[in-house]
Amino acid sequence: MVMPSPLEKSAEIEVSGYHELSGMFPLKKSETLLSDAEVAEAIQAPRFGQDFTEHMTVANWDSESGWNSLETIPFGPLSLSPAAMVLHYGQEIFEGMKAYRHADGSVWTFRPEFNAARFNASARRLAMPEMSPEMFIASLIDLVQVDKRWVPSGPGASLYLRPFMIATEGALGVKPASTYSYLCIASPAGSYFANGFAPVSIWVSEDYHRAGPGGMGAAKTGGNYAASLLPQRQAKENGCAQVCFLDAATGKYLEELGGMNVFVVYRDGSVRTPRLTGTILEGGTRRSIIKLLEDCGHPVEQTDIAIDELVEQINSGEVTEMFACGTAAVVAPIEKLVSKNFSATLAGGRVSQEIHDELTGIQFGLREDRYGWMYRLA
Ligand SMILES: Cc1ncc(COP(=O)(O)O)c(C=O)c1O
Repeated sequence: MVMPSPLEKSAEIEVSGYHELSGMFPLKKSETLLSDAEVAEAIQAPRFGQDFTEHMTVANWDSESGWNSLETIPFGPLSLSPAAMVLHYGQEIFEGMKAYRHADGSVWTFRPEFNAARFNASARRLAMPEMSPEMFIASLIDLVQVDKRWVPSGPGASLYLRPFMIATEGALGVKPASTYSYLCIASPAGSYFANGFAPVSIWVSEDYHRAGPGGMGAAKTGGNYAASLLPQRQAKENGCAQVCFLDAATGKYLEELGGMNVFVVYRDGSVRTPRLTGTILEGGTRRSIIKLLEDCGHPVEQTDIAIDELVEQINSGEVTEMFACGTAAVVAPIEKLVSKNFSATLAGGRVSQEIHDELTGIQFGLREDRYGWMYRLA
């Protein structure tokens, strides 16, 4: 059995319910709210990451007061010094989560304690201040409660939540900033698979790496995504949807995609996923899938997966399926691995679909939440 990771262990905390935590970010309501009909139209065919709800939660930090000035305010531009350290040295971290509307109208999120713990782990790596899981979760509750009508109810649709923290001190000089802002914004999202559960082709980058030993790979910080943009463009130029990175030290082992973890399914039903080496972002979806797989009889090993061997095993039929996973897509089946030197097509199977259906079933309240993963926001 796969033991909990240090991050998962630190997320094993009891957090009060939404009734107790709501109101921590007092509301200054927008004076220019859209009508219900306008909101309904905006969330009917949501443009993920393009449309935002009408409010955001914000807080500031300085060394004397710690976290202060918690508020829920109208969504709008920030006022920031052009010397703000985030703009020059990239001191920034973020999270990605979703709010799901259940059939009775209630709104839930998935394992927020994990995201709160990962946010703090990212903060430690970037020498930024941590915050209590209660404050992190309260920022989601207060935002979702005021903007509840923006949570879509169509199949697979959700409200994407983006908590983030930036260094605001206006000073040049490479050092940890002395002031920070925390914000959470939200964007309605349709089903990730517009054309059904469609398999994707993946470009294996042999020229570029996302993160190296001792770097920031395990933290969710903008710099890692900046490093992935050029190889991601190469992926597109080569007809692939996403880029997959190999380890920077040897260039031999599979790590993860630009924004998703990866799993390999063998003909005998066993499953492997790259072990957490410090260069991979540990996904909440990854953790949850390991649990679901084990509980339905698929042994899971976290290990080094050599790309050469993997390509041979795909070609021989020993590896039948691969899938990527993360909050956005939940599970994305992989049909092909492509690089400058090889192309390997997977036969396909049922495991990706079964895991996708189970996890989304839990998230949308259609299947039993056996592990207590769901947290009510509104
Ligand atoms: C680089 C990277 N790896 C993995 C993941 C999957 O993480 P999660 O399952 O928590 O969304 C993400 C998404 O946040 C990511 O950006």
